[in-house]
Amino acid sequence: MKTKPFSEQIAIVTGGGTGIGRAFAEALAQAETTVVIASRREEVLKQTAAELNTKFSAERIVPFGCDVLDRDQIEALVSFAFERWNCIDILINNAGLAVPETVEAITETGWSTVLDTNLRSVMQLTRAMLPHMMAEDFGDIVNVSSQAGKHGFADVPSYCAAKFGMLGYAEALRDHVRRQGANVRVFNFCPGLVDVENALAEQSPRPGFIHVKNMADTLMYALSLDREVVLEDINLYAR
Ligand SMILES: NC(=O)c1ccc[n+]([C@@H]2O[C@H](COP(=O)([O-])OP(=O)(O)OC[C@H]3O[C@@H](n4cnc5c(N)ncnc54)[C@H](OP(=O)(O)O)[C@@H]3O)[C@@H](O)[C@H]2O)c1
Repeated sequence: MKTKPFSEQIAIVTGGGTGIGRAFAEALAQAETTVVIASRREEVLKQTAAELNTKFSAERIVPFGCDVLDRDQIEALVSFAFERWNCIDILINNAGLAVPETVEAITETGWSTVLDTNLRSVMQLTRAMLPHMMAEDFGDIVNVSSQAGKHGFADVPSYCAAKFGMLGYAEALRDHVRRQGANVRVFNFCPGLVDVENALAEQSPRPGFIHVKNMADTLMYALSLDREVVLEDINLYAR
């Protein structure tokens, strides 16, 4: 089965300028992977790329402005990566948000924003990337769901629906690649509270939260397993 060192891999991390996505991008760049970080705020992306590239003294992080609610921008992201490297090895579907609401007090706009950002964009990005991964017979798709994708919470019903939906979609995707005999793995993170405010190595997470470095460490562990091994749903939260 085909393998590739991290130093020869290309990754896309949506929402890679901040929080969990940034920690993922940093861990991958540390392993010498080239990482495209994609989200709406280009200034944030550029700042993150500059900081991490300075840290590693190499141009490993590439910022790319992309609103995942816009299908044309998703396609522009995919085209950019393929024109530049002709492959994408790792897709991390991390961009996401919640709109606090209740089952009664929920707006059409809130529903659309949450479902389209957290779920629809994941299906669009995956649809765009998968044929290339299949052709290369190599790829990893990593989805950032949530404990809200496993349990319902009254204050974020549409977020729960999207994160549960993401796990269902991932299971169907995994079945699809298995039937095709493709060397493509699908992992899901289902974290509880992750402290993205205290992300420096020397900082302690707030009570009830985990330090974001645990997400990055787990990502690299999961990706490092033998190609035939899939660490399916990764539940991690503060005990
Ligand atoms: N932190 C937690 O406790 C926790 C727990 C469970 C799951 N999660 C999940 O982890 C993921 C990352 O969250 P985080 O905690 O790291 O918070 P965060 O720093 O707010 O990250 C969310 C990222 O998504 C991007 N984003 C939002 N809407 C977007 C859009 N329309 N197009 C492109 N990018 C978009 C944001 O960038 P721009 O604003 O620049 O677009 C931002 O970088 C999310 O999917 C979240 O649901 C977080």
